[in-house]
Amino acid sequence: MRHWIVVPAAGSGRRFGGGVPKQYLELGGRPVIVHALERLLRSDPAGLVVVLAPGDEHWPRLTGRDDPRILTAVGGVERVDSVRAGLALLAGRAAPEDPVLVHDAVRPCVALDDIRALLAAADHPGGAVLAVPVADTLKRVDDSGRVAATEPRAGLWAAQTPQLCRYGVLVAALAAAGAGDASITDEAAALEAAGHRPQVVPGRRDNIKVTWPADLALAAAILAAQEGA
Ligand code: CTP
Ligand code: MG
Repeated sequence: MRHWIVVPAAGSGRRFGGGVPKQYLELGGRPVIVHALERLLRSDPAGLVVVLAPGDEHWPRLTGRDDPRILTAVGGVERVDSVRAGLALLAGRAAPEDPVLVHDAVRPCVALDDIRALLAAADHPGGAVLAVPVADTLKRVDDSGRVAATEPRAGLWAAQTPQLCRYGVLVAALAAAGAGDASITDEAAALEAAGHRPQVVPGRRDNIKVTWPADLALAAAILAAQEGA
């Protein structure tokens, strides 16, 4: 079964800060996004759309973007808008029943085994999502920085990417989610809002998202450990 991949890479990394968006920072000698693309391409997709910020100056200067399967689209205000733009580029290429993986450009440590495990769940009608059980005790904190409550952790999982869904189902779910909706932070949320119940596929804990500056050193250590394994 052929599959497609959409990689949202149009964010500006407000939490990370700094001048260069985090997806273009160096990590073990190559930019964060190049690690993600290399790993995704190893799953042998029919095509991969990278969704870029309008006027992105870094992408054209990147080495490691010349694979003929790579296409580019221009993203929007929120992640959901960028994913929608990436899917729109696949219209006429992807069939409604083709599985599509959506993967954050800023998760450079994703393992091929996890991508394959997710693809193996492609038959689930409501899509599938890599996730890990939440390990820490969860505190709800008020505006003054004091603990207001301890949230029960049982049954809570942290969703990662890639997330997978049939092209037609995902396009319909994202069309129903409004433009600029910041509350739809992943594909599963759009699918849930459309009444679907995505399947959870347990993932590796080292598939971290580079969100804060400290995550970059963590990702470098993970890549080094993976490459030495
Ligand atoms: N993303 C995107 N379009 C947006 C916002 C985010 O394509 N309008 C992408 C990011 O580039 C990233 C992924 O979605 O690859 C996950 O988002 P996140 O980690 O939140 O990145 P940023 O939005 O860039 O960071 P922040 O929320 O701290 O500003
Ligand atoms: Mg964001």
